[in-house]
Amino acid sequence: MASLIKKFRIKSFKEETPIIELKDLTISYGNRQIVEHLNMNVQKSEICGLLGPNGAGKSSIYHSIIGLVKPAFGKILINGEDATDIPTHLRCSKFGISWVPQYGGSWSDLTVFENIMAVAELHIKSKDERLAKTNNLIRKFELNNVINLKSKYLSGGQVRKLTLAMAMVKETKILILDEPFAALDPQSVRMIQQIIVSLQMFEKISITISDHSSRDLLGCVDSAMVLSEGSIVAKGTPQELVKNTKAIEAYFGEGFKI
Ligand SMILES: Nc1ncnc2c1ncn2[C@@H]1O[C@H](COP(=O)(O)OP(=O)(O)OP(=O)(O)O)[C@@H](O)[C@H]1O
Ligand SMILES: [Mg+2]
Repeated sequence: MASLIKKFRIKSFKEETPIIELKDLTISYGNRQIVEHLNMNVQKSEICGLLGPNGAGKSSIYHSIIGLVKPAFGKILINGEDATDIPTHLRCSKFGISWVPQYGGSWSDLTVFENIMAVAELHIKSKDERLAKTNNLIRKFELNNVINLKSKYLSGGQVRKLTLAMAMVKETKILILDEPFAALDPQSVRMIQQIIVSLQMFEKISITISDHSSRDLLGCVDSAMVLSEGSIVAKGTPQELVKNTKAIEAYFGEGFKI
């Protein structure tokens, strides 16, 4: 499977046009500045990793991209257009953004089937198409055996698969994944890696992923960057990044290998 992912990578289609541009972005909560004058791009059709220690601000950056957190300073450009002041729901529909949050993301008292159908109700008019899409996603994410289980009774990994499936209901151009590998067993990690790469390959979706399962993340991205103390301290291909002394110092530590 790893070689399959690698083969996909070599063949993968890449464009050097930014789809997300963070310009001089500053994020603060009260008096605490989390991210300072950050400049960061995600290229069109790229899978881009965002690494960084706990509390570095990765989720906050994602929240600012979708509009849940208002930057104290700076701009967020999506597809070249200033999106900084566009409200979340309009921003996500206008630019086709789907987000899988680090925590939660499903209705705990709805079953797996009902959760996916609920999202489908918002985005797909035809009932037959809604059903077909829901069943297709349940198959794709191997959720058949828990289809009628309320999400509060799912295991950690099953919840990750469900929230990913929910993000896949609507037509997506930009996919933001906040810790998609957390709590997944090794075979599920490979399944999700393959789904991520196939979304890039066949649907030309631009994807950004943050995760502490660094090997799993580096196994499926084109490039990645390391966020530390409010700014990007290193970026490059996975092979470049693991050798970068600043990345080693700020995140990987000595002896990390992929
Ligand atoms: N809504 C909020 N109000 C106040 N402080 C917040 C809020 N959200 C995040 N923070 C703080 O901002 C900092 C960055 O948090 P964030 O969740 O963005 O980090 P992260 O890089 O995603 O960390 P992790 O790897 O643990 O997920 C943390 O110190 C956190 O406590
Ligand atoms: Mg986070």
